[in-house]
Amino acid sequence: MTAIEFETHAPITQFEVRQNCLWIGSRRITEWVTEAGATPVYVYDRKCIRDRIDKIHRALPKIDLHYAVKANPMPALVEFTGQLVEGLDVASAGELEMVLRTGFDPERISFAGPGKRDDELEAALKAGIIVNIESERELRVLAALGQNHNLKPRVAVRVNPPFQLRASGMRMSGGSQQFGVDSERVPALLADMKNLDVEFIGFHIFAGSQNLNADAICEAQRLTCQLAIDLSAHAPAPVQLLNIGGGLGVPYFPGDQPVALAPIAENLNTLLPAVRKVMPEARVALELGRYLVAEAGVYICRVIDRKVSRGKVFLVTDGGLHHNLAASGNFGQVIRKNFPVVVANRIGAAQKEYATVVGPLCTPLDLLADNMQLAVAQPGDLIAIFQSGAYGCSASPLGFLSHPPPLELLV
Ligand SMILES: Cc1ncc(COP(=O)(O)O)c(C=O)c1O
Repeated sequence: MTAIEFETHAPITQFEVRQNCLWIGSRRITEWVTEAGATPVYVYDRKCIRDRIDKIHRALPKIDLHYAVKANPMPALVEFTGQLVEGLDVASAGELEMVLRTGFDPERISFAGPGKRDDELEAALKAGIIVNIESERELRVLAALGQNHNLKPRVAVRVNPPFQLRASGMRMSGGSQQFGVDSERVPALLADMKNLDVEFIGFHIFAGSQNLNADAICEAQRLTCQLAIDLSAHAPAPVQLLNIGGGLGVPYFPGDQPVALAPIAENLNTLLPAVRKVMPEARVALELGRYLVAEAGVYICRVIDRKVSRGKVFLVTDGGLHHNLAASGNFGQVIRKNFPVVVANRIGAAQKEYATVVGPLCTPLDLLADNMQLAVAQPGDLIAIFQSGAYGCSASPLGFLSHPPPLELLV
């Protein structure tokens, strides 16, 4: 398969190009657009997701994989991915309801996230899923609900560790956090649990997200395993599940390179025997969202207008930040950078230019590619934004300006 090369981005290797057109799965992108019936459309490729999961299984020692549904909650994609992983992690009662509808085994669903409402805790209790407790209140409420309903809550403790995942796109641990229970308070929480009618399942330690630095991931995993070993001494029952988080990122921006799995495998090979010695009954899980699905997704929009303003070329499309906030640079980027973008029906065309791809919204923030080298495009051409399979559709302000929502296809 020939890679799609860029001036400054890492090549895209997961899709094919034939006769200058992007192919996804067995069809050219123009056919998928015809099948969808309109643009903009997100196209997610099952094969990419399966290949990614196979790659992890081949590279890493035996470990469970959990998919964090928040990365892409499209029901068909969740149902497909659910068949390939050992667990699904939800972040709300809404996600839980959707996952239960896919028929996924509730015993293998866990629920993390701060501020779980009482009705969400009740839904989790009734479904029989694992609740990753993020505060003393959650434990108290869940235990009381359990008594009322005569059901035994299944609880794990989400720990806010004293360390961070260095060089992360998003820091979610260390210092003061809304996530989890500070590690120094966990022994007291575990002691309280002994007096409550709850089933202790284990620990969830999630240190960060979007990390391309294998050394930083290894360091966090080492500290995570040590912390879990220390805390397990206080556990009211044997640890059944140790979720060591994830954090593996994908290359979005110029200069980004895929995260190297070999050092992570080597590191886990060193760490896991010690974990298994202290927690022989524990399944150890990695919790991944974007690493499983981001590269499988492409956002396709159509050029509506081509404008030249004082020498600068603008391709105005029917897509924009209301559908793909992350690609516009407004979902957590400090300095805006381009995602990998191509004119999908003219890849490799000889005639190239620097163009700026924008959407139809009334804000200069509605920018999909800023001054990027692209094939010369005209109205009707298709723009493809790669690495869009995670935090795309569901993480965008779909109602802004009342344009139609994007379509989604799992192919
Ligand atoms: C608890 C938890 N799990 C999983 C994830 C998924 O992270 P990513 O999609 O970067 O793998 C997040 C991200 O915010 C999270 O907070």
